[in-house]
Amino acid sequence: MKKIGILTGGADCPGLNSVIRAVVRAAVDQGHVVTGIKNGWSGLIDNDTRILDVRSTSGILDRGGTILGTSRLRPPLDDKNMDLIADNFKRSGIDAVIAVGGEDTLKIGLDLYEKKDIPIIGVPKSIDNALSGTDYAFGFDTAVNVATECIDRLHTTAESHHRIIVIEVMGRHTGWIALHAGIAGGADMILIPEYPVDMDEVCELLRSRHDRGKMFSIIVVSEGTKVVGHDTPDPEHDRRASRSRFAKVGEVIANLIEEKTKYETRVSVLGHIQRGGVPSAYDRIIGTRFGVKAVELVENGEFGKMVSLNGDKMTAVNIADAVREFKRIDTNLYDIAKVFSI
Ligand code: F6P
Repeated sequence: MKKIGILTGGADCPGLNSVIRAVVRAAVDQGHVVTGIKNGWSGLIDNDTRILDVRSTSGILDRGGTILGTSRLRPPLDDKNMDLIADNFKRSGIDAVIAVGGEDTLKIGLDLYEKKDIPIIGVPKSIDNALSGTDYAFGFDTAVNVATECIDRLHTTAESHHRIIVIEVMGRHTGWIALHAGIAGGADMILIPEYPVDMDEVCELLRSRHDRGKMFSIIVVSEGTKVVGHDTPDPEHDRRASRSRFAKVGEVIANLIEEKTKYETRVSVLGHIQRGGVPSAYDRIIGTRFGVKAVELVENGEFGKMVSLNGDKMTAVNIADAVREFKRIDTNLYDIAKVFSI
């Protein structure tokens, strides 16, 4: 029998509770016990844990957020906190920690595994789908579905009012959400961090669309997109400084369009709506599969690994490989998106 710890760190995300439930069910099924660590890695700094059993995790599969709470700790942690976590971990009697999180949470997990010998298994969570080593992280599908629905709704306003609507979606480093939701929502232009934007080109395309009688346009932009020649706020810097952000790159782009073309333009920033609320069926399913696989890795002693989706198979990769660089967008998909752009 093992005592398995589980924590959820970083941004909240649809599907976190699906993973927690799956870990508990799979672990109990194999005769283990599970301890929930509250508020991400902070729970091991503050010694804040609670036993999780089948009863306390029933009915949470479809619930957004995380019953364990979360916190945003930035790697690397200082020596004091690393030591505190290592000491509290030893005293807790926990045999292994399943860390469910994105880049920051998994980087801290990797440091604890490599420097403090704490047995860690990672589970990839990222609405941005920014983690390497897995085809998809859970949370992404829900975010894409929410953003697509918003694009559909904004489409009707754009069309009725003959306006340009700039829709800013999440994605600090990568354009996964913009690309998928933009294609699904029939966007006329998709702007992503991977390709800095030339506003003269954008406006030229908008004018040619107008000349062809299309009096409205939908532009989907990732929050981390850079506009050539213009200082756009850096969402990563803002996030690390814990500043709230409203209408930044989307607003910059919308203002420039209106200034250069005189077409009536509006901006809509989807923000945290993309990561709240119930997970999609797909995220519940991969969340469940990730949770079950994570328990299997604990049993096999495959520490320092992250569960991963490879095609339709559940596999495992080194956490080090998953956090080394952000997951690149699918350039084939980007080429497809270009066929439909203006
Ligand atoms: O990492 C997920 C994410 O939602 C990003 O897409 C976004 O840039 C960031 O978190 C926002 O962070 P916060 O909720 O801390 O403002």
